[in-house]
Amino acid sequence: MSKLHEQNAFAGRLSEGNDQSTDLHRLFYDGMDSSPAFKELYDRFVSEVVRPNFDFDIIFQTYPTFRIHQPHNVAVFAYHRDRDYNHHPKEINVFLPMTDAYETNTFWIESVEGLEDYTPAEAAFGEILIFDGANLRHGNKENGTGHTRVSFDFRVMDVADYDEEHQLSLTSKTKGKRFIIGEYFQALD
Ligand SMILES: [Fe+2]
Repeated sequence: MSKLHEQNAFAGRLSEGNDQSTDLHRLFYDGMDSSPAFKELYDRFVSEVVRPNFDFDIIFQTYPTFRIHQPHNVAVFAYHRDRDYNHHPKEINVFLPMTDAYETNTFWIESVEGLEDYTPAEAAFGEILIFDGANLRHGNKENGTGHTRVSFDFRVMDVADYDEEHQLSLTSKTKGKRFIIGEYFQALD
């Protein structure tokens, strides 16, 4: 997967309009939408691997977000805090790379809100990273590693922080889903 760009290189730098909608993104999302097996495996992963990291009950992003970070490109067009895009400040991000994520093929993140002392969020294939993407600025550098990074990311939240009244007023940027249980979020069985 880290050589994906050799088969299918993006024509130009990913930007606001297309960082979730290239042919490769569509191929993945169409496959995910039509695969009950993927959804079952993802739900099991959240339940068995992610949930034990927290000492509270969680809700989680119903379908994960998919990223491709090819050489000389970015995977996400701009530095941001997720809360700038309507995300709840209490959301917790989970990063699940399908390739080793390192140096400039992974995302960079500040250590304290407002410090902008960006360092790479590195994780080997087989590891997950849990981070505060709602409040810490993060983004991409041009990938100079020569290897494509492919990853999933998704948000979880303490059930106790979920306030449907508040969440109903907000919608997600790329998919236009409301941040409520039954749309963007799902309760863990
Ligand atoms: Fe983000």
